[in-house]
Amino acid sequence: MSAAKKEYKRITIKSLMEMKANNEKIAMLTSYDYTMAKIVDNSGIDIILVGDSASNVMAGHETTLPITLDQMIYHASSVIRAIDHCLVVVDLPFGTYQGNSRKALDSSVRIMKESGAHAVKLEGGGEIKESVLRILSAGIPVMGHLGLTPQSIYKFGTYTVRAKQEAEAAKLKEDALLLQELGCFAIVIEKVPAKLAEEVAKSLHIPIIGIGAGGGVDGQVLVTHDMLGMTHEFNPRFLRRYANLFDDMNTAFKQYITDVKSADFPNKKEQY
Ligand code: KIV
Repeated sequence: MSAAKKEYKRITIKSLMEMKANNEKIAMLTSYDYTMAKIVDNSGIDIILVGDSASNVMAGHETTLPITLDQMIYHASSVIRAIDHCLVVVDLPFGTYQGNSRKALDSSVRIMKESGAHAVKLEGGGEIKESVLRILSAGIPVMGHLGLTPQSIYKFGTYTVRAKQEAEAAKLKEDALLLQELGCFAIVIEKVPAKLAEEVAKSLHIPIIGIGAGGGVDGQVLVTHDMLGMTHEFNPRFLRRYANLFDDMNTAFKQYITDVKSADFPNKKEQY
């Protein structure tokens, strides 16, 4: 069971560590623009992730690979202008940190300087060790991301559950420990068996935020457009829908069209 929610005026990395220590679950959602971030922040969310899922959700790409650093900075700066409570973490996009720690630092510095974000997130474990270390050495907080890492989708081939086999599960545990030892403040673990994710969460002192990783971790993240039911063609088992905005918006748009076509809108009170 989760502990009672302590009131935090502003969420910091220290608050997240306290939440883990106090057994309070961490709630994280994505945002990519000012208006959505304003509503999400107002709800009392702990973390907003400016995810590279913006590539799918905002731009309609099939994968997260095409989004650029400039585009991520644009999304992140729009989000930052909206918030006054939560911590904002920004994904480093594909090709801006892998295999070149100098480039990883430059990309992270650009995100922090040009958007005003509070932390960056990178996908991978041992293979991005040098990049993580160099970013951390500049005082930039880093969140890890293990399990299903969508920037490697062409290596995996599918979006199915990861680390079901012992060898991959062992590598995930090793990577999680390494990221903690390097100094990451939290790790997202995506689409792995609940038992494995819980084991990792219990063995580390930094928070583990799950997506499709069961309830035994320290917090949860969902893509806001998915949990609001705006992206109604995406139906993974882990997704709980809290609204059905696709249908609600469709109804509103249809009513608007009817009102315009029938000259019902605007009426006398809606004009000057
Ligand atoms: O880009 C994103 O939205 C993410 C979450 C799915 C964790 O990385």
